[in-house]
Amino acid sequence: MTPVSIQANAVSKEFNRGLIFKDISFSLSSPASLSITGKNGAGKSTLSKILAGLLSSTRGSMTYVIGGKQIGIEEFKHHIGFVSPYLNLYDEFTAIENLEFLSRIRAAATPPVERKKELLTLVGLWDRRDDAVGTFSSGMKQRLKYAFALLHHPEVLILDEPTSNLDEEGSEVIHRIIQEQKKSNILIVATNSKNESQWCTQQVDLIPVKK
Ligand SMILES: Nc1ncnc2c1ncn2[C@@H]1O[C@H](COP(=O)(O)OP(=O)(O)OP(=O)(O)O)[C@@H](O)[C@H]1O
Ligand SMILES: [Mg+2]
Repeated sequence: MTPVSIQANAVSKEFNRGLIFKDISFSLSSPASLSITGKNGAGKSTLSKILAGLLSSTRGSMTYVIGGKQIGIEEFKHHIGFVSPYLNLYDEFTAIENLEFLSRIRAAATPPVERKKELLTLVGLWDRRDDAVGTFSSGMKQRLKYAFALLHHPEVLILDEPTSNLDEEGSEVIHRIIQEQKKSNILIVATNSKNESQWCTQQVDLIPVKK
């Protein structure tokens, strides 16, 4: 895998209602793992979206480096896998069609059949591959999000609420994915669970900003 690094440089985010977090800085070089913790509303999902390039910061900046070369987020996005409650799947499409359609939105090549099979098998959905996602349970949808996030072998895996809706078996599969990701790549986990935050060696704790 190509070495990657991500740096947050005094990142702050403000919505209309005010400042959410202020001057967040950290530096990650593969292999690395970071947990983002804080109370409900502290800004964990917001920071995750900024790191994944889905939202811009109000102040500060992000730096992304791959193979020693600094690149912009649009290019770096091809190296990120993101699992989040805010990622929408398409109910009217099958599991396989979702993987293909979402890849197209990501401007990635059509995933090879073998890779789709490997990942749907890993998350226990191969038998349901031709069923419309609208008929899936919430845990099955969460599993499909992992299959999509991992399709392109991302160097950076960002997980917001990693085990939400998952049963014990699903959580164990995720646990294995996380261990694998940490070995040589970058793992970022936004979570309310102390147990999950302990998967990571670095931590950013978002505390409410004094107004
Ligand atoms: N699009 C938006 N417009 C305005 N305010 C927003 C928006 N998105 C989030 N916020 C606000 O930003 C704050 C942080 O929200 P965020 O979802 O990042 O928190 P969180 O730490 O992920 O919370 P939780 O533990 O409940 O998942 C909240 O006060 C929320 O209302
Ligand atoms: Mg959240």
